[in-house]
Amino acid sequence: MKRAFRLAGALCVAVLALCGAAARVDGWSAAELALLQSLQIDQLAPAPPDRSNAYERVPAAAALGKRLFFDARLSGNGQVSCATCHDPARQFQDGRALSQGMGTGARRAMPLADSGRGAWLFWDGRKDSLWSQALGPLEDANEHGGNRLAYARVLQQHYRGDYQALFGAMPELDGLPANAGPNGTPAQRAAWQALTDGQRLAVSRVFANMGKAIAAYERTLGHGASRLDRYTAATLRGEPGAAQILSAAEKRGLRLFIGKGDCISCHNGALLTDQHFHNTGVAPRDPQRPDAGRAAAIAKLLADEFNCLGPFSDARPADCQELQFIADRDPKMAGAFKTPSLRNVALRPPYMHAGQIATLDAAVRHYAGAPKAVLGQNERKPVPFTEAEMADLVDFLATLSGPLTGATK
Ligand code: HEC
Ligand code: HEC
Repeated sequence: MKRAFRLAGALCVAVLALCGAAARVDGWSAAELALLQSLQIDQLAPAPPDRSNAYERVPAAAALGKRLFFDARLSGNGQVSCATCHDPARQFQDGRALSQGMGTGARRAMPLADSGRGAWLFWDGRKDSLWSQALGPLEDANEHGGNRLAYARVLQQHYRGDYQALFGAMPELDGLPANAGPNGTPAQRAAWQALTDGQRLAVSRVFANMGKAIAAYERTLGHGASRLDRYTAATLRGEPGAAQILSAAEKRGLRLFIGKGDCISCHNGALLTDQHFHNTGVAPRDPQRPDAGRAAAIAKLLADEFNCLGPFSDARPADCQELQFIADRDPKMAGAFKTPSLRNVALRPPYMHAGQIATLDAAVRHYAGAPKAVLGQNERKPVPFTEAEMADLVDFLATLSGPLTGATK
């Protein structure tokens, strides 16, 4: 009996028209079943290799990266680690609207599971790899608030053996100042300028290698199956009991998500994100100074010494197509932000790029109203959801919750 189900499932995958058994569960059409299947976690392709990071699949690099991720010595005040804002117990976020490190930032922390799968990192995509991303917060005054020479010293003091086993000899730091970096205080910047080119390069290379180790750790973090995944798998196999895995309200919400609400046009694929940037009219925190989002990120990406084409990348130029062919004059990118994954979304309020929306109910109402954007144009039109439909959509969003996988403890 079990084998027959598996066979039906396999046929279903190949030719949805043959899916008689599946179609009988809750009356989904073949086209709808194909959409449901596209959202399944087991449809997630293996992550494409990041050729700019030769260490991303090296277990010893991931082990070192994990220790660095939780190490608060890597900060200006000895109190901030990556985990301060990306807490494994909170879906690798902090539960705040605006993150707090040494100061208060302008955006919400993002979850990290499966985060290296798109081409671009951050809400505005101003980084093109996980390792390069990790270097941003380390030198941001509001986040870790430290500088790269001080970080190289922490590595030399506490991680020298592990570092050298992976990346080769540490540069000589004796005689260099305690603090120096190109993004620090005026005094730290002056100290950085006073170093020789060779010293700057050597310290920046240690810094880049830290990022590569942290990225190797982050790469291990993923998503397990949600209740929606179990429902879809059972439905495709026509299993008895499939229909009971989701409630009637959750299934109505699912229909709205792939149908009337057209949420799936952006929240698609196994992670429920197209990994692209859209203006959905989310109100900026400060209407006088709206966040330009993606539009302001392209110049930063191209100027970044840690990008795929830069001197610290392990890639060949031909591996950096995304960066080379980036669209730099798309007017639609004003006020556009990266579509977030909706996996585990119910477990991690608040929502949107600056935590502007507190609950899923309010998020769904935001889509119903589709407010005019303060900057650029909202791509969405209002959707005339009834109150009951909005409640169904909220119920549905909670079916996307599942365990995290990888080295989360
Ligand atoms: C003070 C809080 C804070 C600290 C500390 C912090 N982050 Fe973040 N993280 C954020 C915020 C806020 C964002 C979104 C910022 C933006 O888009 O401008 C973010 C975004 C990210 C992203 C992008 C995810 C995606 O899907 O695009 C990754 C990856 C990440 N952080 C990893 C790290 C790592 C690794 C560290 C430690 C080196 C770190 N963060 C330290 C707050 C923090
Ligand atoms: C045009 C693309 C697009 C469509 C269509 C779309 N979304 Fe979104 N969604 C986004 C983007 C982009 C964001 C982040 C916006 C921001 O922060 O400014 C987002 C954010 C969200 C969030 C918050 C997630 C988080 O982690 O902050 C939820 C929940 C959500 N969308 C649900 C929906 C639902 C439900 C629908 C259908 C009614 C929908 N979306 C349709 C692009 C889209």
